[in-house]
Amino acid sequence: MNDFALTKLSYGMYILTTMDNDKPVGCTINTSTQITATPTTIMISVNRNNYTNECIKKHGKFALSILSEKSDSTLIGGFGFRSSRDNNKFENVAYEMKEGLPVIKAANAYLVCKVVNSFEVYTHTIFIGELLDADIFDNQTASMTYAYYHNVVKGTTPPNASTANAYKKEDSNSNKAVYKCKTCGFEYKGDTPFEDLPEDWVCPICGEPKKNFVKVEPNKNKSSAVYKCRTCNHIYNGDIPFEDLPSDWKCPICGEPKSNFEKIS
Ligand SMILES: Cc1cc2nc3c(=O)[nH]c(=O)nc-3n(C[C@H](O)[C@H](O)[C@H](O)COP(=O)(O)O)c2cc1C
Repeated sequence: MNDFALTKLSYGMYILTTMDNDKPVGCTINTSTQITATPTTIMISVNRNNYTNECIKKHGKFALSILSEKSDSTLIGGFGFRSSRDNNKFENVAYEMKEGLPVIKAANAYLVCKVVNSFEVYTHTIFIGELLDADIFDNQTASMTYAYYHNVVKGTTPPNASTANAYKKEDSNSNKAVYKCKTCGFEYKGDTPFEDLPEDWVCPICGEPKKNFVKVEPNKNKSSAVYKCRTCNHIYNGDIPFEDLPSDWKCPICGEPKSNFEKIS
């Protein structure tokens, strides 16, 4: 079985929120979808170890803030790699209350639901919520997809995410050699090794043939040392050597300081 196929499912990126008595809590999720139109119901899948799960069960309502491609990626890390059990995740986050629940202003839309059903599926709880309120904050920017988070933001997935296993393999593959189109700069990073692509394969962007691609070694012209964030596992292998980054530089995913990184190679 090729469980890498699971990475071909499409998802969005959401900040799931609820209340812990009078304290706002929440976490990042990608597993949500609309189930029915009338009445409108929404499904979310939440790990049973997540504090947010416990709080939704007690409070009976949840809100989804739908992130856009412009939403600050540190929101994803801030909500996705820490627990509300011992953190106030809303400390530096702009939010407003809708139907008694916090929704993130940097999102492009929000949905507020009351729980009408739930069931346990091994590690996760599936909550079905009926829509109480919804609105759009930003109609211009595309919603962020999980693929965008991985491919553009270069974010990683923690073990509690329902999709963690397949993506763990993909994350660990991210250091492999890539091939770049000499004409348009498109970088081929597909699952099939570049060498195994058929000879009549062409660049999906500009249509140039396979022979127009050059191999770009991983980390070429970059700092050879690779550093990893202890909180969210984000790998820094940028052009500027890690040591030369300013001391107030922060992890682009979870916002932890430079001192939270460890050298891994
Ligand atoms: C990109 C991303 C996607 C995630 N998707 C899910 C998900 O779909 N379901 C889930 O239960 N946790 C998911 N998580 C993990 C939770 O956000 C994470 O375990 C969080 O620390 C839980 O916080 P809490 O204890 O305050 O609820 C995801 C995290 C990230 C970064």
